[in-house]
Amino acid sequence: MLRLRHTLRVPTFLLALLPIIINLAAVAQAPAAAVTPAQQGKIDSLIKGMTLAQKIDYIGGTGFAVRAVPALNLPALEMSDGPYGTRSNAGFPSTTYAAGIGLAASWDRDLASRIGAGIGRDARARGVHFMLGPGVNIYRSPRNGRNFEYFGEDPFLASAMAVGYITGMQGTGVSATIKHFLGNNSEFLRHDSDSVIDERTLREIYLPTFEAGVKKAHVGAVMDSYNLVNGAHATQNSTYNTDLVRKEWHFDGIMMSDWNATYDGVAAANGGLDLEMPTGKFMARANLEPAVQSGKVSEAAIDEKIRRILSTAARFGWLDRPQPNGQADPAISYLDTRNNAAALDSARESAVLLKNANALLPLNKSQIKTILVVGPDAFPGVAVGGGSAGVVPFHLVSPLEGLINSAGASGPHILYERGLPTMVELARNTDFTTTGGKPGLTVQTFPNDTLSGPPISTTTAPHVTSSGMTIESIVDNPDVMAGLSGNTPRRASRRWSGTYTAAAPGRYILAVEGAGEGSGNRVLLDGKLVFDDWSLVRAFQPHISVDLTAGAHTVVIEDKQGGNFSAHLRFGIVREDKVVSDRAKQLAATADLVLVSAGFNHSSESEGGDRTFALPFGQDQLIEAMAAANLKTVVAVTSGGNVDSTAWIDRVPVLLETWYAGQSGGTALAEILFGDVNPSGHLPATFERRAEDNPAFANYYPEGDSKRVLYKEGIFVGYRGYQHNKVNPLFPFGYGLSYTTFKFANLTVTPTSAGTDPHVNASFDLTNTGTRKGAEVAQLYVAGNHSKTPRPVRELKGFERVDLAPGETKHVSINLDPRAFAFYDTAAKKWTIDPGNFTLEVGDNVESLPLKATVDLTSAAASTAF
Ligand code: BGC
Repeated sequence: MLRLRHTLRVPTFLLALLPIIINLAAVAQAPAAAVTPAQQGKIDSLIKGMTLAQKIDYIGGTGFAVRAVPALNLPALEMSDGPYGTRSNAGFPSTTYAAGIGLAASWDRDLASRIGAGIGRDARARGVHFMLGPGVNIYRSPRNGRNFEYFGEDPFLASAMAVGYITGMQGTGVSATIKHFLGNNSEFLRHDSDSVIDERTLREIYLPTFEAGVKKAHVGAVMDSYNLVNGAHATQNSTYNTDLVRKEWHFDGIMMSDWNATYDGVAAANGGLDLEMPTGKFMARANLEPAVQSGKVSEAAIDEKIRRILSTAARFGWLDRPQPNGQADPAISYLDTRNNAAALDSARESAVLLKNANALLPLNKSQIKTILVVGPDAFPGVAVGGGSAGVVPFHLVSPLEGLINSAGASGPHILYERGLPTMVELARNTDFTTTGGKPGLTVQTFPNDTLSGPPISTTTAPHVTSSGMTIESIVDNPDVMAGLSGNTPRRASRRWSGTYTAAAPGRYILAVEGAGEGSGNRVLLDGKLVFDDWSLVRAFQPHISVDLTAGAHTVVIEDKQGGNFSAHLRFGIVREDKVVSDRAKQLAATADLVLVSAGFNHSSESEGGDRTFALPFGQDQLIEAMAAANLKTVVAVTSGGNVDSTAWIDRVPVLLETWYAGQSGGTALAEILFGDVNPSGHLPATFERRAEDNPAFANYYPEGDSKRVLYKEGIFVGYRGYQHNKVNPLFPFGYGLSYTTFKFANLTVTPTSAGTDPHVNASFDLTNTGTRKGAEVAQLYVAGNHSKTPRPVRELKGFERVDLAPGETKHVSINLDPRAFAFYDTAAKKWTIDPGNFTLEVGDNVESLPLKATVDLTSAAASTAF
């Protein structure tokens, strides 16, 4: 979205009312201050002086800002996406950190805080007041297109990351915006889907990270999501916005909408929304003036929204220091070396080594002569996934460049080959003939999104590649356009028909790429529907393999555009055994080692749509071909979560999950491969063997023809579900290998307070028993299996990332508060501990917990409220 810049005038009125001159350097370190009664009094009198029209205008944003009110000397309050760099700054680059799932894989609270602070500094340098992050929605299924932005499947780990990130950021004088509240755990139908989640599950799984952001980190803003939660849109859902967040959690910041996530001005005004973004389309004069006059919305409710916006501005010091266009503090650089260091550390710490057969890694540079780097993510590098989180770095080190830099002149010789066609190449290499026998396909375009009525144009296209579909781009005829006026947003649909001739019988890959939100497509092969993303877009870039006989096959591709996004479309067919380039196979056979850089990118994993569980088209075949040619095949995957590895996991010795590693991903990858950095990441989400093993698999999509997504698995999400269902995952939650070995010993558990407020200390020794320095993530799980209420087998309630030199032992101490033992009692409407013995287990993943001890909480009051 085009971002408007505002000229900021120093608000003399507020300079007078807020006489404290804030030292900018001090602001950069100190957490945001509380609003004083004097400031509140002045804000109240400012509100009193506003007309109703001015008030209503103020609660509707303008682009990426709270609007300026020059007449009242109120400055614009600027916003920027996030969350892994300062994105929305008129296209200017910004430090790009490892995305949220990678940060969670580091289990490093300090790193979260360093990244938060780094983004805060970048925001200050660019005149930004609100960063639109962190995103904290729970990873429920690997298919969610935005998992990469979030902190994984466990609310305790996600909360720790969110608190570190928000605290670090807000310490620089920039407000974080925790998003997307609530139940936004998938990207299909995101404006319309209704997340139906029972109260206990909300309290125990989907709410705690928001709760920690509000209560522990005092986040300045919460962003309401697009979807409905239990029957009402999040932006007008007073149960959660008002009763829970405002009243129960005492949130005093701003509740803003996601961009175009407001659907009813009166309901939103009464449902807890303070600020409609990006414009006041519904919370607008036309709707709210009559509503105030008729008493449907009280003027006091509108005043309260303004009070929250101005109080937040006062709390962060924005009303008494200018923060425009990077001129605010010349001491803060656009490109900060501390930020670059944090970005590199985020890539180093986030990578999870999942398989390392025969200790193939780390590689010895002097013993390896040639490495083939192959795969779609090898070059250019893929720093982040797509959508609003897509930051542009100043510089980006791809895996290929990382290896070349690290190898230097004396190290291994690095060869490169992409190995697979791009989606555009695949589409352009796929030839069709029309029914009239001409080369290409017949394309009929309809002025609606239902392929109805007579087409408004019929043309021939050589291939299925279209970079965007709007009626204007297709119909260059003012008369036709005039007839279509009023059709807003302009909707269009197309039917592409042609014949594909298979040169030989065999297994063929069919791949499609669409635009996600607002679009839809489906493919019929020989009259049979083989892809159906028409009403519900399951993936941006789906693919399937089918058996084809030699000869002609009819292909019909239908696509539609019905929303705000430009609907590009690509489609191609290739024989499975031809998809991998011959050159890649030849080079792989001669190289000492092959690195396959596999995974997704901004077109295949992004906001506004989901992704496939399978790797994008051709990548399974690429890995299999490389493994067949070279026993030393290392696979590094760029993704927001697990991918289907069944085709090749047993054939490759090494698998590394690198997530979206930010600007320095290639450097960190090379450091890990060559042993300069010891991998230390641990999975923040369970990696299933098969798609159907996921606890939410059967009910991830809406029920029947409805838009209701039933969270039937309840609290048994992620490892809680695998353990409850007794399903063995491929790699469990918390899992991650190292080049050294660790030993846990001497667990001591001591209650430090009892009764209604039980606190427990757990301490143990952790030793590096190997020969390299490394970091271990010590994880503490609590099991309350005596409870009559169904509980997960165990739940993460403490962790510590510990750096250890070879032979070194550190004593680790973890304090547990009452929540560590409680469940949410929906009848009593409070967190409750069932008195009894709890088991505490410590180890390095949810299934490897060598230390065990029990703690007696029989005296814990059953009705503890906290
Ligand atoms: C996304 C938000 C983002 C906003 C502004 C929305 O589409 O869901 O996460 O902050 O756009 O770009």
